[in-house]
Amino acid sequence: MSFTIAIDGPAAAGKGTISKAVAAHFGMEHLDTGLLYRAVGAQMLQGVDPLLAAQSLRPEDLDALNLRSPEVAQAASQVAIIAEVRAELLAFQHAFALREGGAVLDGRDIGTVICPEAEVKLFVTAIAEVRARRRHHELLSNGTQIDFDEVLAAVMARDSRDSERAEAPMIAAVDAVVIDTSNLAIDLAIAAAISVVKKGISS
Ligand code: C5P
Repeated sequence: MSFTIAIDGPAAAGKGTISKAVAAHFGMEHLDTGLLYRAVGAQMLQGVDPLLAAQSLRPEDLDALNLRSPEVAQAASQVAIIAEVRAELLAFQHAFALREGGAVLDGRDIGTVICPEAEVKLFVTAIAEVRARRRHHELLSNGTQIDFDEVLAAVMARDSRDSERAEAPMIAAVDAVVIDTSNLAIDLAIAAAISVVKKGISS
């Protein structure tokens, strides 16, 4: 039987960590859909046409080492504006969502466009300054020297590109439960998400 958990929200709100923890807790498969756009964005930076990159994407492309860089993040949100690129990536995500045993997908449009029929929808968010502080810390600990202001500007640029685009903009589905992690420790945010999913399973 399939059971889809859609987890959307902006960058560095904690949705990746929450999604992995929820998937592990319930023994479900997890797909970080941002990686699909990052893989296409990374190829665009190499000069490949984004639509061609989306059409020829292979599962191993999601394991490329450079996908977490700030440059690739910006490129991902640029290719994510292109309707044909989004359409190309839809079938894979949809099939993943309907996997036997349940699936957790995190992204921007899972609860609204990819899986509007998902059994559980969460929207994980936090104020931009808090998210930029987390991302800054993460980059510094990976050895990337970068100013906080630069990280904040990049987070805000990506937020507006993602939420103002015409195609599948980032927005909480009307039936999504919102978890704001601005002042919430990650273990409490995970517990809150698990409790929403448990309610969804038993209803
Ligand atoms: O989640 P992550 O930060 O890795 O996503 C990178 C970019 O990919 C986002 O800024 C967004 O533009 C795009 N994206 C999207 N739809 C998704 C997942 C990611 O448009 N479902």
